[in-house]
Amino acid sequence: MNWRIPLSDLRLTQEDRDAVVAALESNWLTMGERTQAFERAFAVALDAEHPPHCFAVGNCTLALHMALVAVGVGPGDEVILPSLTFVATANAVLYTGATAVLADVASDTDWTLCPQDVRAKITARTKAILPVHYAGQPCDMVELRKIAEEFNLVIIEDNAHGPLADGWVDDRHTPQALGTIGAVGCFSFFSNKNMTTGEGGMVVTRDAVLAEKLRLIRAHGMTTLTMDRHKGHAFSYDVVELGFNYRIDEMRAALGLSQLSRLVANNAAREAVVHHYYAALHRLPDVTVPFRHRPPQGRTAAHILPVLLPAGANRQLVQERLRDAGVQTSIHYRPIHTFSYHSDTPLVRAEGMEMTDLLAPRILTLPLSPTLTATEVTYVVDALRDALVGA
Ligand SMILES: Cc1ncc(COP(=O)(O)O)c(C=O)c1O
Repeated sequence: MNWRIPLSDLRLTQEDRDAVVAALESNWLTMGERTQAFERAFAVALDAEHPPHCFAVGNCTLALHMALVAVGVGPGDEVILPSLTFVATANAVLYTGATAVLADVASDTDWTLCPQDVRAKITARTKAILPVHYAGQPCDMVELRKIAEEFNLVIIEDNAHGPLADGWVDDRHTPQALGTIGAVGCFSFFSNKNMTTGEGGMVVTRDAVLAEKLRLIRAHGMTTLTMDRHKGHAFSYDVVELGFNYRIDEMRAALGLSQLSRLVANNAAREAVVHHYYAALHRLPDVTVPFRHRPPQGRTAAHILPVLLPAGANRQLVQERLRDAGVQTSIHYRPIHTFSYHSDTPLVRAEGMEMTDLLAPRILTLPLSPTLTATEVTYVVDALRDALVGA
């Protein structure tokens, strides 16, 4: 469909295309110098003073799986995560044989993981907390860190939405890059994300021991890489872990490097678009805008623009009317505990999901991209106003 205003807008530049072609022409297609350069640049972008260890991988789902394996999550363990997330967050837990314990969101205006509900769901089997920085908005990491310390739990951050956004790490409100606050952080470069490599992801840690483990399990648990052997640095290898092939390739690493160079500017442009939305949505008092009154905790990522429709509104009708006006919308997310598979398996536990259940039928995501103009935002909000009449 030819949308007048698509949900997200992928604008590849000539630099992006040149970078991919140069990788193709280099005659070295996987895990080479471009991957190393991408990982180094990403680490510095996250924290120039103390760059964390970064490993580029095939996508964020793999990053989450690797992270859980690296911290030792397995059968019999429980991991607490929000139900309001993309299905991959829960699936990564299920791949390990552990139980996914779903928790509620904080409130009708803060759709991130509720720390009180996390605390209530901790058992002797709980091993990790898996917060999702929904929409690029930081979870309450101050409180989650306190809980993790008190109960000796590991935090793995699903930061698919918030590359180069910050969150507070202590009561003095010190900001730190999301994805570097917990033991491991996971990023997505899927094509609708703030930066893209088509498919792609990054797994990040500040812990040297976890870094070594992640390095190994990304590539079959092998002690040397094809590149090392090509350069004559090694002739053989041992396998010291049960690893996977979760590698990225050089074309995507090259695209990632090129995209990363524009990420700060694009995040700022997204933030400006969000402020146009906040101003325009004042005209629709029945529509709740989550996070609107939350102070920024440092750099922001503004990944998506979800709103809460008035109670009882026919969401599908609203979406159809918006489609007819050329405006593409989506739903972030149908909660995990409502899926057929996840409501059926004993490895998913979902109790006390009152707030998520209250929000779920009313969530609607409006278009957001760095290039959206104030006029286009007004068009979307006018179209939403019209779509809500009698719906
Ligand atoms: C919150 C969240 N977690 C994980 C993922 C999985 O990312 P990927 O598509 O890179 O595997 C996504 C992707 O949409 C996501 O939005």
